[in-house]
Amino acid sequence: MKNEDLILVTGSTGFLGERLVRELLATHPQATLALLIRNRPGLTGLQRAERFVPAADLHRVQVYAGDVTQPLCGLDASAYQQLTEQATRVIHSAATVRFDHTLEEARAINVEGTRRILDFAVASPNLRSFTYVGTAYVAGERTGLIREDELNVGQNFRNTYEQTKSEAEALVRSYLQKIPGIILRPSIIVGDSRTGVTSSFKMMYWPLKIYARRLWRTVPGYPDSVLDIVPVDFVARAVAYLAFDPTAIGSTVHLCAGPRSSATIAQIAARAAEYFHVAPPRYVSPKLFFALLRPLLFLALWGRKRRVLRDGRAYRDYFTMRMQFDTTHAERLLVPAGITAPPVLDYLDRLFHYCVASEWGRKTISPE
Ligand SMILES: NC(=O)c1ccc[n+]([C@@H]2O[C@H](COP(=O)([O-])OP(=O)(O)OC[C@H]3O[C@@H](n4cnc5c(N)ncnc54)[C@H](OP(=O)(O)O)[C@@H]3O)[C@@H](O)[C@H]2O)c1
Repeated sequence: MKNEDLILVTGSTGFLGERLVRELLATHPQATLALLIRNRPGLTGLQRAERFVPAADLHRVQVYAGDVTQPLCGLDASAYQQLTEQATRVIHSAATVRFDHTLEEARAINVEGTRRILDFAVASPNLRSFTYVGTAYVAGERTGLIREDELNVGQNFRNTYEQTKSEAEALVRSYLQKIPGIILRPSIIVGDSRTGVTSSFKMMYWPLKIYARRLWRTVPGYPDSVLDIVPVDFVARAVAYLAFDPTAIGSTVHLCAGPRSSATIAQIAARAAEYFHVAPPRYVSPKLFFALLRPLLFLALWGRKRRVLRDGRAYRDYFTMRMQFDTTHAERLLVPAGITAPPVLDYLDRLFHYCVASEWGRKTISPE
């Protein structure tokens, strides 16, 4: 193999993955990408890739129909063998990010899927780096400053996503003697910091939408809770850069806003109130809300408001978090390359603007 790279990327059809693929193609012009993509009913992996790979770069992309829950990642033995021989880097971003999967369902993808990609890496004789996309929320219900080198300190998890991502990260750590691994932990990924564009309206967007539409303004949480969000352009740049950084090997890196650049719920809500012309939220004690108010409201409300109350449960933890992510190591690696997480309050309005312009994801609009 010459100096060129063949990078196996999983999760490329996802919110982060699509952006990451474009970033890798733009910043590593010598690289070829091998995308492991699931077939979807009526759509092959190649057809799915054509939706987000720029036409001019398609010749640098190979598509493998596969699934990380299957033996050999769903590839036939000869394709698997050939890919292990050619791959020089692996970026594993595939995961289920649902909070409502059973532990068994989440483990099959997040833990056993990661094990298969790790075994692929071990079998790859020309491997230069293995980059695992984890999450900062492996910290679970911890409070205080979370350091990048910490993983399990006896914390509880809020859902099967956090738990299985923690198990997967522990698994990656256990392979670090065998492969040149890098663990990256984004916090909550939101739209592009310059255009606001997002293909995912999950996570922060749902509470924002119901607030902006005046469907709900009672927040069961603390106004001074910190929400660590990072724009997808920052995360994609950081992943594409660190996957090629030999000094990152063996370490864990928080791709987070960190204490300096994140914002509190109150600051974000104040901006949203101003932007969407809605009254500021009312904060109530989460204990009181979930023990007393919510059950009562469930009886009293119906229709849309009842659905909001039901669906809102999945988001309760956003408003009560008491932790911050230390980004000392991340900054040491990324700042010299000019890659920094912008302060949340600097680009929040652009996220709001895209929400409105795209009718919260119902309409496709061009970034400009
Ligand atoms: N979004 C966030 O706020 C956030 C924050 C921190 C960390 N992360 C991490 O970032 C990574 C990407 O997240 P995302 O937001 O881009 O998620 P996403 O939009 O849900 O994308 C998930 C990707 O994984 C693929 N995938 C799932 N199961 C698979 C399987 N069995 N075999 C092969 N591919 C499979 C999906 O393929 P299909 O298109 O076929 O479903 C999709 O490409 C994940 O590891 C996640 O834990 C995300």
